[in-house]
Amino acid sequence: MANPPAAADPSPPPAWTETELAGDPHATPDKAARVRAMFEAIASRYDLNNRVHSFGRDVAWRRRAVAAARLRPDDEVLDVACGTGDLAEALSKASPPPSRVVGVDFTAGMLEIARAKAGRRTRPLPIDYRLGDAMDLDLPAESFDVVTIAFGLRNVSDPPRAIAEFRRVLRPGGRLVVLEFSEPRVAPIRWFNRLYTERIMPRTAAFLARDRSGAYRYLPRSVASFPGVEAVGRWIEEAGFTGLSQTPLTFGVCTIHAATVPDPVSTPEKAAGSGATA
Ligand SMILES: C[S@@+](CC[C@H](N)C(=O)[O-])C[C@H]1O[C@@H](n2cnc3c(N)ncnc32)[C@H](O)[C@@H]1O
Repeated sequence: MANPPAAADPSPPPAWTETELAGDPHATPDKAARVRAMFEAIASRYDLNNRVHSFGRDVAWRRRAVAAARLRPDDEVLDVACGTGDLAEALSKASPPPSRVVGVDFTAGMLEIARAKAGRRTRPLPIDYRLGDAMDLDLPAESFDVVTIAFGLRNVSDPPRAIAEFRRVLRPGGRLVVLEFSEPRVAPIRWFNRLYTERIMPRTAAFLARDRSGAYRYLPRSVASFPGVEAVGRWIEEAGFTGLSQTPLTFGVCTIHAATVPDPVSTPEKAAGSGATA
């Protein structure tokens, strides 16, 4: 007698297995598909998990990223890998306010939440959220004054290619701000941070998000196996940016990398407003 058909399992298979995470998740050939599946799975609890597991620091980190963008009146701003829109929202509420904020992400579920959040405000935020790929932006060259990306660069399959895209869409004098996790330099702090992110947070975050995708085991592995701040700085400079500054936040748990597109006709006023620091 033939076996009865197996009951359909309503939950999707995990985006990452233990074996894949034991190695280098950045080297997985279908990293993009797994990253997207993972963010689709955790989108509804993403903000809550961020607040809880960073002890609210993520809000301050994004505020620092906004400050690093050194916005000028009427700047046009692109936030790549915008996710649920926390950085795009902070940028749109900055003073002076930008004239336009576009948020791009390749996970529809994250954008859905971003749009719902912006619409729920008493005064809805005029942010243009679009589905798109950081490595192949459907945007004209030299169309933005600022490009930001928060906790996104580590997740793209080819970070140098994404940075080349950021350079393409920025105008001369435009500023790039990358906010990304990094490993603290001081050994005891690094040890404690690893203990927290590898042993404690994956369990509590997966519980909060009711997650079976492996997202919160991917997070510490993706940080530990991602090239360090020196490599990120090198990619930015190799893409043609100048005036690179790298600022560690919260003992180096994350770093803000800021740089500028050279402007051949830079005036002293323009230079003073640029994101470049020594
Ligand atoms: C950790 S979340 C960061 C979201 C947001 N920037 C924040 O500060 O909370 C990473 C985001 O990167 C997006 N992402 C990863 N690779 C991408 C790509 N190639 N193009 C566009 N978005 C991408 C994911 O969909 C996800 O929403």
